[in-house]
Parts: sequence; structure tokens; C-alpha cells
Amino acid sequence: EKGGYEHFMAKEIMEQPEAFRKTVFPRIKEGRVVLDDLCFDAGYLKNLDKLYIIACGSSYHVGMAAKYNLEKLLRKPVEVALASEFRYCDPIVTEKTLALVISQSGETIDTLAAMREAKRLGARVLSVVNVVGSTIARESDDVIYTWAGPEIAVATTKAYSTQLAVTYLIGLYFADLMGTIEKKEYDAIISELLLIPTKLESILERRQAIQYYASIYFNHPSIFFIGRNIDYAIGMEGSLKLKEISYIHSEAYAAGELKHGTISLIEPGTLVVALASYQPLFEKLMSNVVEVKSRGADVLGLATDAKGAEMAKTVDHTITVPDTHPMLLPSLDVVPLQLFAYYVALQRGCDIDKPRNLAKSVTVE
Ligand code: F6R
Repeated sequence: EKGGYEHFMAKEIMEQPEAFRKTVFPRIKEGRVVLDDLCFDAGYLKNLDKLYIIACGSSYHVGMAAKYNLEKLLRKPVEVALASEFRYCDPIVTEKTLALVISQSGETIDTLAAMREAKRLGARVLSVVNVVGSTIARESDDVIYTWAGPEIAVATTKAYSTQLAVTYLIGLYFADLMGTIEKKEYDAIISELLLIPTKLESILERRQAIQYYASIYFNHPSIFFIGRNIDYAIGMEGSLKLKEISYIHSEAYAAGELKHGTISLIEPGTLVVALASYQPLFEKLMSNVVEVKSRGADVLGLATDAKGAEMAKTVDHTITVPDTHPMLLPSLDVVPLQLFAYYVALQRGCDIDKPRNLAKSVTVE
């Protein structure tokens, strides 16, 4: 059942190119995103006061990445809320709010309750769900399924990747309807989108290098993930993956925020995973890398091929991923981080598919 892999998590990491293909390819026809089940119109979208993304855990991290992309594409404010907080913060939701609810299981009780509250306040609900016929899917006004297939490992990987993919489709579909994207840009994103599965395969083929880095760093007591913009959103997911399955303390930080506090925690032996794939902020991120290096941190860098050699001059080791359109970077960047978490946990002898204290679907508040 594990398809020859030692753990479901490894199998599911390796299934990501296929899951991405299944989720995305049937929804692109003649170079356009076609979401057959949805009927949004331009007038409704243009009239929106905001998009409110509601989710928990990794699904929330998808929302954090989507915020950057959707705001860029739609020029509408996008708020991302943890479902467990949403209900208790007197959220500003009107009939002009679109709630985008993200859930693998479709049964997470906090997300479901938040969704019901958003609906009660007048929002239209569009959900992104993996489990067909789940409660969240049934109660939403519209649903787009991720076609990740069953996910068994508690730590999500392929569901996260397909959720991300669906947020790209939603962004392109809405931007097209609203006329907020130029044709050239639209076409460029579509053609890059179609290349993602092959690029994912090339990253997975190079997994031994990541296993090697895991063998160097698996005993580090504390690991920080730093990044800016979309790299920060990916860092959050990398950090969660690592801590939930390897039990190493880890934090994700917006790199520019380090000097406002956390840099005091950086000392010789701290590992910093520096995410520098977002090229417009590469130099800025590298200045943060210099700051942590000078305080004795070990730095594992992640950049795209275009910047790998430059990054390697400053950091201890560099992981590279293929270049792509900046909006699609999370899809590539997350995979080395999933692999790193997996191999670190493997070295530490952890129960990878069933980490302590965690459940696959959280149906209690
Ligand atoms: C982390 C993880 C959890 C879930 C969260 C939401 O690896 O799997 O953080 O992402 O519990 O679950 P869903 O998406 O089912 O609502």
C-alpha cells in the first residue's frame, strides 16, 4: 500500500507531480483556465470589498502564499485568517465578501465553524477541498476539488501542493473575468504552470542531496526559516513540516523582522534555512543571511538556478530549484523543505506518518 516506500509521507511527496497534473491540466483548455462548476461574473467580482481566506495549519499557509498572488492579480484586499481565530474576532464580513475556505479533509471543525459564521454574515463561500462530499464541500456555495487522492500521512504534502495549484487557477480565472491581467502575463503564467510537474520531478530526482544535508543538521536544537514575500509564506510551511514530524524547535520569520527581536536567538550551532527564491528581494534577503552568519549560524540556502551560484558564495550549502514565474515559486520551493523535514525525522527515528499528539483530521475545537 505504501508503493514500496518506507512511509506514506515519502510516497505522497513523490506523488506530487502527478497530483499537480491531475488537479491542473484538465482545467486548462486552449491556454485558458476553465472551471466548469463555477459561475462567477465580472460584476460580482469587481464589486467585492475583499477576499477572506479561512483555514488551519498547512492550509492556512497556502492562504498566506495565495494572498501575495491574489492581491497582485486582482488588486483587491485579501485577508488570511486562522479559522480558530476568525469566529472570535468579530470579523468584518459583508455580502460583498468572498470567503475562500481551504481544507484537505473538509471536516476540520474550526474551519467548518468559521465558514458557517462567514456565511451567516453574508459572504459567498468558495471552498478548496480534497475529500469529495465532505461537510465543508457540501456546505459551500461553490467548491473546487484538489485531485490529490487520499492522503494518509498526518503531515500534509500533496494536498498542500494541490491546494496551492488551485489558488493559482482561481487567481487566473478571476483576473481574466475582471480584466486585471494582461494577456501576455496570463499566457506566461499558463505556460509556466504546465511546466511545474516536470520541474517537480527534477527536484525529486535530486533528493539525495537533501538527505545529505539532513544527515549534517538533524541534531541541531533549533532551526529558523527566513524569507521575504512569498518565500516567507513557504518558510512557514517548511517550519511546520519540520517541527511536527522531527520535534525540533523551529520558527519561520520574515527575514526583515529578525533584527526586531529574534536575532538574539541566533548563536553558533543554530541552523538558518534561508529562502531566497523570490528574485526581486534576493539582495535584501542576502543581507539578512550575512547578519545571521556573522552571529555564527549555519546557513542552508534555497534559491532558483539563476541565483544558486551567487548564494553559494555566502551560505554553507545551497539547494536550487528550477526558475519559474514568481507566483508559482511556492510549488517548487516547498518540495525540498518537505524532503528536508522527512529526512531529518528519519535520522531521528521519529514516527513519521503518525507524529505524537497529532490527528489527520481535527474534529474537536
Ligand atoms: C500539517 C497539517 C495540518 C492541516 C490542518 C488543516 O501538516 O496537515 O496543519 O493542514 O489540520 O487540515 P485540513 O486541511 O484538513 O482542514
